[in-house]
Amino acid sequence: MTEHTTGDRAAAERLRERIAAELDSGRERSVGLTLEALDEAELVAQHSPLMSPLVWDLAHVGNYEEQWLVRTAAGQDALRPDIDTLYDAFENPRADRISLPLLSPAEAQDYNARVRARVLDSLDRAAFDGPDPLLGDGFVYHMVIQHEHQHDETMLATHQLRRGDPVLAEAAAPPAAPPFTGPEEVLVDAGPFTMGTSADPWAYDNERPAHTVDLPAFWIDTRAVTNARYQHFVADGGYDDPRWWSERGWDWRTRSGKRAPAFWIRDGGQWLRRRLGRVEPLPPDEPVQHVCFHEAEAYARWAGKRLPTEAEWEKAARLDPATGRCHRFPWGAEEPGPDHANLGQRLLRPAPAGCYPAGAAPCGALQMLGDVWEWTSSDFTGYPGFTAFPYREYSEVFFGGDYKVLRGGSWATHPTAVRTTFRNWDHPVRRQIFSGFRCARDAEGSRR
Ligand code: AVJ
Ligand code: FE
Repeated sequence: MTEHTTGDRAAAERLRERIAAELDSGRERSVGLTLEALDEAELVAQHSPLMSPLVWDLAHVGNYEEQWLVRTAAGQDALRPDIDTLYDAFENPRADRISLPLLSPAEAQDYNARVRARVLDSLDRAAFDGPDPLLGDGFVYHMVIQHEHQHDETMLATHQLRRGDPVLAEAAAPPAAPPFTGPEEVLVDAGPFTMGTSADPWAYDNERPAHTVDLPAFWIDTRAVTNARYQHFVADGGYDDPRWWSERGWDWRTRSGKRAPAFWIRDGGQWLRRRLGRVEPLPPDEPVQHVCFHEAEAYARWAGKRLPTEAEWEKAARLDPATGRCHRFPWGAEEPGPDHANLGQRLLRPAPAGCYPAGAAPCGALQMLGDVWEWTSSDFTGYPGFTAFPYREYSEVFFGGDYKVLRGGSWATHPTAVRTTFRNWDHPVRRQIFSGFRCARDAEGSRR
């Protein structure tokens, strides 16, 4: 028998309250993007073969929650074992989900509510300090919370692809573009840093284990590449010049016929963009968004630079060279607030490059978290000593596939679902995600 101190019990109670609140805010967000935003016809429609019908995402998050929190964590019987295969992402590619006998929006809402009631009921009895690593520190609850937030971002990408009038209300106005007076790029000195984490209780298996990586010195841009700068690349004939593109990139460029980022619209002499149903002038100071890896790579070469590796990105984002310590967020350990970063769908767009000085990394790079996911030059693989936990299909099955790593989260990423060690990945041709990039380059005399 373990004697629990009052402190232990109070800490467990705080964790329970936090989990309940986070489950609740995730669901509020999912419902806001589905049942409250669109009618039944639009919820069951396929807005793009790249995406699921929104009603699939809605019941999928409920089914994932049922499998991990009701059946596995609480050890209860299944509510709806009959629908598991429908909502299995591996059995059913996104393009095929439209032809499945899915739950209707009302059925999905009812199912999700029944699952949630069981979860909240069993949460009171969950032991976070036992020997089970799945429950320790509430890991599996945070896995489920992050999963719903990830699907909410996916649902926002579906909203972006959807044609029709806007349905999502602008939450807040973006901060004004600051007159940027800092340096264009900063030098990150040669030396080791700790990549990944072994201690973060809510980190995914692909962020583990912590390991030392020694890098030569490199320069990294303080800001992401903006629409204005990317427009120069376009106007300079960047899409017509194979010199800037890799062989695969040029192949993508010629086959696809693309001549600009997704959702850019040419209007006489100027560029507009379509954003969640609104057509508006392209904001020059915002980070460019909806570019694929090949476009990011071509721009960087045109600019005489390159994309950062994943390790360079992480070192710039989290190492404090003054102390040698690495932090969960660029600014330190404090939970992300509205002055640190543009996260959590507070704005429905990236903020201008050069904002959020309070969220700067120790090296001086701004907006490493939020605004746009940043393409890196690295393939998605496991760190040395990787072990799949708690299931292979989150990360491991994607290792060695045709995926590039993206870092830092976007305006659409919830703060609970991102940190400096967090790794996202996608095919190098994908552009419907909220993806941009910043450039890096070798330091003089450094060898890579
Ligand atoms: C980590 C964003 C690549 O959406 O495919 C969702 C997250 N895994 N459900 C994805 C995920 C299972 C994943 N990404
Ligand atoms: Fe999923």
